[in-house]
Amino acid sequence: MSAPPPTADVGLFEAIHTARSLRHFKPDPVPQELIERVLDAAIRASSGGNTQHWSFIVVRDAAKRRAIGAVYRKASDYTGAQYAARPKPDHLSQAQYDQFLANSGYLWDHMAAAPVILVPCLKKRELPERTALPEAVQARYADHLANLHRISGSSIYPAIQNIILACRGLGLGTVITTNHILYEDEVKAVLGVPDDVATFALMPIGFPTRKYGPLTRKPVAEVTYADSWGRPWPPP
Ligand SMILES: Cc1cc2nc3c(=O)[nH]c(=O)nc-3n(C[C@H](O)[C@H](O)[C@H](O)COP(=O)(O)O)c2cc1C
Repeated sequence: MSAPPPTADVGLFEAIHTARSLRHFKPDPVPQELIERVLDAAIRASSGGNTQHWSFIVVRDAAKRRAIGAVYRKASDYTGAQYAARPKPDHLSQAQYDQFLANSGYLWDHMAAAPVILVPCLKKRELPERTALPEAVQARYADHLANLHRISGSSIYPAIQNIILACRGLGLGTVITTNHILYEDEVKAVLGVPDDVATFALMPIGFPTRKYGPLTRKPVAEVTYADSWGRPWPPP
């Protein structure tokens, strides 16, 4: 089966405004050259301390995609119950929320239908021994430990956003998904991921059957403050 050609390059801001979460894919394989370009965009991202302690697993094998899809399905039962117990966010219309639920729900059953599932990973990094650090640094050590889960994830999300934008630029669709993390060990077992490496997302990638954006979001003025929390932006 021949894959459709990639679309012409889109501008950066057009890509940012239209890189919608896409979850419906044609069965056509993604040419290796395009996967390489997506990966090359991923590794241009920043990482804390420029450690680049990431790895990306490109899953094309159908049996492995099915196995991962089954874990995603199981994890999504939990997420579905969470959604059902939560109210609709105020900023979404009922129609927008229903659309979101329908699209997310579709992927619960169709993760394996994407010709590629890309799995961004990070090697876990141990902190240096507390006693090996200067005294002033030791005083903040407990706070560092307490926030480690937040700090460590930050080193993969810039790469994930580059993947999303690169896909948009190449005429591919994708979405960041994290539901599987509840059952991450099962995904790691399918892919042979070592203990000291964590998976941060499952990103189905393929040629989309749905359209790109425009993306609607809460306006900047609603989510931005000038100089202090609560002071309106733009300033009067
Ligand atoms: C941290 C994070 C986790 C997400 N996890 C999932 C997921 O598990 N499954 C899914 O279908 N979408 C997931 N999404 C995608 C969001 O649902 C999506 O970005 C949001 O609904 C906005 O959709 P839009 O970009 O098409 O407007 C996730 C997004 C983020 C940022």
